[in-house]
Amino acid sequence: MLVNLKTILEGTREDKRAVGSFNVYSYETIQGVAAAVKKADKDAIISFGASYLVNMSLETVVAIVKEVADSLDKNVALHLDHCNNLEIIKKAIDAGFTSVMYDGSALEFEENVANTKTVCEMAHAKNVSVEAELGSLALGEHSNETDIDHGQAYTDPANAKEFVERTGVDALAVSIGTVHGMYKGTPNIRVDILEAIAKEVSIPLVLHGGSGTPEETILKCIDNGICKINVNTEISQYTVAKIAAKIAAEPNTHLSKLTLLQSEYVSEVVYKYIELFNN
Ligand code: 13P
Repeated sequence: MLVNLKTILEGTREDKRAVGSFNVYSYETIQGVAAAVKKADKDAIISFGASYLVNMSLETVVAIVKEVADSLDKNVALHLDHCNNLEIIKKAIDAGFTSVMYDGSALEFEENVANTKTVCEMAHAKNVSVEAELGSLALGEHSNETDIDHGQAYTDPANAKEFVERTGVDALAVSIGTVHGMYKGTPNIRVDILEAIAKEVSIPLVLHGGSGTPEETILKCIDNGICKINVNTEISQYTVAKIAAKIAAEPNTHLSKLTLLQSEYVSEVVYKYIELFNN
């Protein structure tokens, strides 16, 4: 069933479990997440990065995900990932997305608060949930596990409390050392900062940059308030590598077969993470 983010994350902090949020780009990748949900018999969030939405209209995405979600016994949320454009967010809400992320992490605190509050008012009026971000993640290729260069800024716990109180946001993405993309070395994830944030903020916390994060770190984060974990790069890299190997071994593989294989490979990564996050 298609539900909003607030519903799908209900009880997760108390239960110390997280729901995986998996980036998809097409019908095949949506089917990959659906197959993993079926196999694991657990909920998942289907997430479209605003920048990837070039091949389908928002309405088409909603129609497909709604049909797929309705065929499952578990809850599924349809989330718009990382969007700093209020017009696109409004269109996604109107089209039927059940969750949106307003990403004002590059803005000054006051501007981020004001814009997030506007998005919350717009979204909540239509029963759509809102995730926002405070602090910002580095890109994996720039990850330096000992300092916070390259655009990374850790989330300040006191700011997080004020931000949540003033905006009415449903979930908060925090920056504690994970990166978008694969890590260059061994990540240094600041669980101590997460603990301090979790003391100040009781809503579900979100970890971006799930790909390649060591399992024991992920479990520690879930123990300390993380309820939603985003995975993108690993889904893509794993699936592309498997398809490349298939084509190398069997160059005459029919496109229809590759289409099905794409869903299968995506589901392998997604299943692994659903089981890890939600145990
Ligand atoms: P990765 O690509 O590092 O898994 O990060 C995904 C993400 O945070 C999407 O918002």
